Amino acid sequence: MSTMYGYEVRQADDVYVDLAEKALGALENDAMTQGTIVMTILPFLCHIPTWMPGAGFKRFALESAETLQRMREDPFQFVKKNLENGFGNPCMVSDLLKSSDDPDEEVIKNVAGVAYAAAADTATSSLLSFTAAMALHPAVVKKCQVEIDLIVGNQRLPIFEDRQSLPYVEAVYREVMRWRPAIPLSLPHAVIDDDVYEGYFIPKGATVVANIWAMTRDPTRYPDPELFKPERFLDAEGNICDDTILAYGFGRRICPGRYMGDATVWAFIARSLAVFDFALAKDASGNPIPIDVDDYTDNLISLPKPFKCSITPRSEAAIHLISSSE
Ligand code: HEM
Repeated sequence: MSTMYGYEVRQADDVYVDLAEKALGALENDAMTQGTIVMTILPFLCHIPTWMPGAGFKRFALESAETLQRMREDPFQFVKKNLENGFGNPCMVSDLLKSSDDPDEEVIKNVAGVAYAAAADTATSSLLSFTAAMALHPAVVKKCQVEIDLIVGNQRLPIFEDRQSLPYVEAVYREVMRWRPAIPLSLPHAVIDDDVYEGYFIPKGATVVANIWAMTRDPTRYPDPELFKPERFLDAEGNICDDTILAYGFGRRICPGRYMGDATVWAFIARSLAVFDFALAKDASGNPIPIDVDDYTDNLISLPKPFKCSITPRSEAAIHLISSSE
């Protein structure tokens, strides 16, 4: 919201976030997915009237279209009004509007709406997977904190300039992206021409699904793939030895927001480890409450289902840093 629209979200039930979440929910809803598949296979169904039995997916699509329209429109108008009144924070939409005398507003609305949709749940999924992994692996938390304390100290938070000097934190980031990729089956693609791949004929127009999940679980490349093991990304000297991050896809359609995703997730990981300890939550009798690391939604973007864990400031210095930073 801030990058695209210069809009600072201050509370959980924010009006624009709410709208965007409703629109995204509609896109990921089963009725929509099934309807899209049915209409792709049987295109004549696009023309059946909405009142017909079995056309529920069409009614759902029509209702959702309105929410999607508002998600594109409302925050865009917020930026336009700010520009007209001569105030507002710098953001991508205002930059794009100012970039030409006759800006194509429809394209700008789409760019901003798609960026929000593509950025929000993917980053959230990775951050929640990281949180679960830390609650389950206190030794990993400790190793990161030793590294951060040595390089950054406890008087400030890690910044991007520290990144090169924090290889273990980097390995944790890479392992989070491998262990629980946010879009396990990537986005479906269609081949534009007949093709042959390793002896398989792929006809023009066929849908191709890249199974990122399987690739990140290849035991020849990642032994014991289900284990959360940042060390697999480090060589004997403790330097990063594997530069591949499969979670952003690959080829010409690789995620164009990967630099922003990378910066967001890394900063969250480095900064939260600098100031917080993570542990399993405890029940009323003091027993640790387990986290089911396989309990994810099965939508296009896979999010961990709600889980409990304990996140506490590490020290007095950490409390000071938390309260003095935005
Ligand atoms: C942790 C964060 C993110 C992850 C894991 C992620 C992952 C992905 C993946 C797997 C794809 C499909 C790539 C393919 O088809 O091969 C994708 C596409 C895309 N991503 Fe991301 N993404 C993230 C953040 C972002 C951000 C921050 C933005 C924008 C600000 C963004 C914008 C997009 C767009 C527009 C596409 C569609 C590209 C196309 O179809 O040509 N993503 N992302």
